[in-house]
This record gives sequence, C-alpha cells and structure tokens, in this order.
Amino acid sequence: MGWNSWNTFGKAINETLVKQVADALVQSGLRDAGYVYVNLDDHWQCGRDEHGQPVPYPDKFPGGIKALADYVHQRGLKFGLYSDAGEKTCGGEVGSFGYEAIDARCYAAWGVDYLKYDYCYAPADAATAIQHYTTMGKALRATGRPIVYSICEWGERQPWLWAAEAGGHLWRTTGDIWDGWANHPHGGPGIEQIGFEMQRGLEAYAGPSRWNDPDMLVVGMYGKGNTSGGAGCTDAEYRTHFSLWCLLAAPLLIGADIRGMTPATQEILSNREVIALDQDELGKQGFCVAKRARTEIFKKPLLFGEVGIGLFNRDSREAHVSVTGSDLRIRGRYHVRDLWEHVDRGEIDESGELRVDLGPHACAIFRLVPTE
Ligand code: GLA
Repeated sequence: MGWNSWNTFGKAINETLVKQVADALVQSGLRDAGYVYVNLDDHWQCGRDEHGQPVPYPDKFPGGIKALADYVHQRGLKFGLYSDAGEKTCGGEVGSFGYEAIDARCYAAWGVDYLKYDYCYAPADAATAIQHYTTMGKALRATGRPIVYSICEWGERQPWLWAAEAGGHLWRTTGDIWDGWANHPHGGPGIEQIGFEMQRGLEAYAGPSRWNDPDMLVVGMYGKGNTSGGAGCTDAEYRTHFSLWCLLAAPLLIGADIRGMTPATQEILSNREVIALDQDELGKQGFCVAKRARTEIFKKPLLFGEVGIGLFNRDSREAHVSVTGSDLRIRGRYHVRDLWEHVDRGEIDESGELRVDLGPHACAIFRLVPTE
C-alpha cells in the first residue's frame, strides 16, 4: 500500500512534490491506515555517470535520491523507484539492461525499498523476459536489502506463471489503467474491464508475497492528470473500484494527488474495514461466485473462516441484487457487517439471503463473521 507518481503527475515529478506527498500521507492519516510506500515512477533518471551509476535529473532532484529517501523514511514511510528491463524506460529514459548489478547496489545504497521494473525496449518473447527479470531479481537479492520487486510487463507473457520464481512479489496483469469506468476510446482499460473481466481465473496464482497487480488506483483523480483526460469517475464508481481491488487482494497504490483530497476520496481510501479485506493475512484473491444479468457477486475467503463479500451493479440503471448462502457456499451462521455503511446487518446462514438496492455502478461490501 502506498502512492505512486504516474497516474496524476507523469513526467512532472520533483523532490518538493515527493516531500509534500509524504507529509500529506502522514497528516491525512493515510500512512496510519497502511499506505506506506512513496514510489517515484518514470522520469526521475536522466542518464549515467562515468561509473555507470544512474543519475537523477539535477533540476528535479537537486538534493539527490538518497536525501529524498531519508526524508521519506524519517516520516515512517518507505521509498520506491522505477526502472526498466530494457535499454530504455517506457518514457525513453535510461533503462537497467546490462547495468542490473550496478543499479541494484545503487538503489540499496540510496535506501530504496521498492522497485517497479517495466518492460519497454526489450525483446517480446517470454524466455527473454524471464531472463531479464530474473537477472534483476538476483541483483536485488544480492544487495542484502529487502526490496519489494514489482514486475510490470502488463500481463502479456502470463507473469503469474513465472514472476514469483524470478524474484517478483507482484506482477501487473493488464495494460495501463485509465481514469474511467469504461475503456478509453483509443485503448486503455477502464475500471470495469480490469476489475470484472481481466482478473478472472488469476486467483489461483495469488498468495502471500506473490500478488496479481491490476494496476494502480485512480480513486480521486476525477479526470485530472496523466492517465485521465476525460470526466473521470463518480464517487460510486471510485468506491466500486476500491472495493473490487480490495476483494482482489490487489496492491493499493494511490494515483491521485493526495495533497488536496475531496472528503469522498479521503473516506474511500481510508475505509479501514474495506482495507482489512485487502490486507487479510490468508492472502486469498477474491473471485466471482455468481453473475446475473449485469450484477456480480464476489467472495474472498479470509482468516479464521471469515468471508468478504461484494455485491456489484455493473449496469448504468439501478438494480436489485441478492445473494444466497448457497451462492456463497457457506456453512453455519455468520454475523453480517456492512463495510461502507459501518453497521451490522443481522445474520445469514446457508439457507439465508442478503438483498440490496444498488445505484448505477455501485456496490455493497460485507464481512461475514462466524457466530461461534
Ligand atoms: C508503462 C507502465 C506504467 C508507467 C509508464 C511509465 O506504461 O505500465 O505504469 O510506469 O510505463 O513510462
């Protein structure tokens, strides 16, 4: 859980922004809700010095990366960087191919805790991708510093089959998300496509320290920023996006500018009852158990026999959604807790039913807790 610069800021990153974001994570309470990584994406690096070491843009990062990482660490946060398994990054900056050991040692010396490793300007075949990712995975391990390794080849070579063995802790399963419910007219999957369609069947590959990554959150962007360009989403859609990502046990990397959040954005991102589904230590990825017309029911098994449930309306009109104990394949009685309304909703057993009326693209999320 944390924040990443790409969705809103793209190229326009600098050390002042990163410091303000770190401060905002602390002041808003988001850090204490679990968002601890502050990750710089592409365009921090301008080239290499005479020893082959990566160099940040001096105008954007005059204090250097180490001092910035220190600032972030002093606030109880962790610091992440971005590079690429090819000669260049997706934005055309210098990549790490051929410099993996130097780069990994340099990141460790700077105090980097997280590396997102992209796959532009690299050969398309899976065997080469596995080799490139394994080389960096080994280089990171050899530093002796624990560094979360995020593999970003957009799900094109079925990374869920090999990325953990290459050293990865998470791997993207899709192309770049854009800040919309529907897909972008010129490509780019929206929330609906990624959340409901593109993760189906991938739950078998997720578990502790090996996560499918359906890309970063667009909650709170409202059409502003690098991966926007449209009207963005409604608060109901952002709530659905966040709920789905939590039921999918997805990494939660905020992409919005958190220095000025609306109350709705703050409320969505800070909902600890929903976050607890995402962070449940059993580490199971939720999945769809029933689909009727334009409604879907998701289930996420949790620690101690508890269960996370999502009722979703994909339609743009209101819908009545119900789920039975038999849809959920539960046994025994459970207390029902409503995680957006923060109220208890009685009990359910295998012959029981839960019913809700949902607005366009809205959802209801429950936690079932065994009564004994
Ligand atoms: C790729 C990645 C994005 C982002 C950009 C940066 O498109 O998938 O998440 O990191 O590169 O250039």
